[in-house]
Amino acid sequence: MTEKKSFTLAHLSDPHMCSPQDLSAHALMNKRIFGYLSWRLHRRTEHRKEVLASLQHDLQTMQLDHIVITGDLTHLGTPIDFFEAQQFLQSLGPPLQVTVVPGNHDAYVTVDWKHTFALWTEYMASDVTPQTAAVSTDSRPHFPILRIRGQIALIGISTARPSAPLFATGRVGHIQLQKLENILTETGRQDLLRVVVIHHPPVSGVVRWRKRLTDANALRAVLKRCGAEMVLHGHVHRSSFTQLQTAQGNAPVICVPSASALGRNPKRRARFHIYHFNQNDQHWEIGLAVHRYSDKKKHFVAESERRFILPKR
Ligand SMILES: [Fe+2]
Repeated sequence: MTEKKSFTLAHLSDPHMCSPQDLSAHALMNKRIFGYLSWRLHRRTEHRKEVLASLQHDLQTMQLDHIVITGDLTHLGTPIDFFEAQQFLQSLGPPLQVTVVPGNHDAYVTVDWKHTFALWTEYMASDVTPQTAAVSTDSRPHFPILRIRGQIALIGISTARPSAPLFATGRVGHIQLQKLENILTETGRQDLLRVVVIHHPPVSGVVRWRKRLTDANALRAVLKRCGAEMVLHGHVHRSSFTQLQTAQGNAPVICVPSASALGRNPKRRARFHIYHFNQNDQHWEIGLAVHRYSDKKKHFVAESERRFILPKR
């Protein structure tokens, strides 16, 4: 049997699910009060369940091999929000076909793991191999995660950690950076197409200082040195197409806006991206179809297409 040469990947981000109605005053006695106020004043009219339901419906009608979600599934990071997001994930597909990395809103404050992230563990896990199964001592995912699907290596980094009030920064940290170096080197050696998925953008100038990735320089240095073919991220809530120079060529760095935004500002209106990966002996050809929510039609419509040619090593 010949190996399947094409691969279809959906990228969505930042749905910001939030159900604050049952929150106690005690649960808001921390940074969450700022998120709660922003939800009451603005975000609850922006991040809409009907937009997310429409996206969910569209994805179910597509022949997808995999879905990646780059964080901020929740707005306040409460156990209720995590539960709601778990239901959303289950509606999209089994954990082996859906990969999640968390965002800063998912780690808004320090939370009890077993009532929050534990609900998403299978969606944030690396592939289980006989070796990793043998050494695994707990069920918590250890980022960076690695999932290999055919010739595609999905490499998920977590930048989610609580930050000071009014800040939305992220950090990779030296432990992840070291592991990332090994993963990129090894998957590069295997000639896999390395897709890095991360919440915060690794490139500068895309978000304001208070929302930046604090160790972006160190991350960029690893990506430049070891190579990566693509970086997919969220956090920005609008489209962004940049690139990163690596030792092996320029890697597209692409942000998808929020999956649930009604978008009074059209640039911030909900979108999802569909990537079609095809390869021959010389190069990868990647088609990107952008789908945007239409407030008039009340469903997603095709907005634009792009094509990337990435030479093989
Ligand atoms: Fe976000």
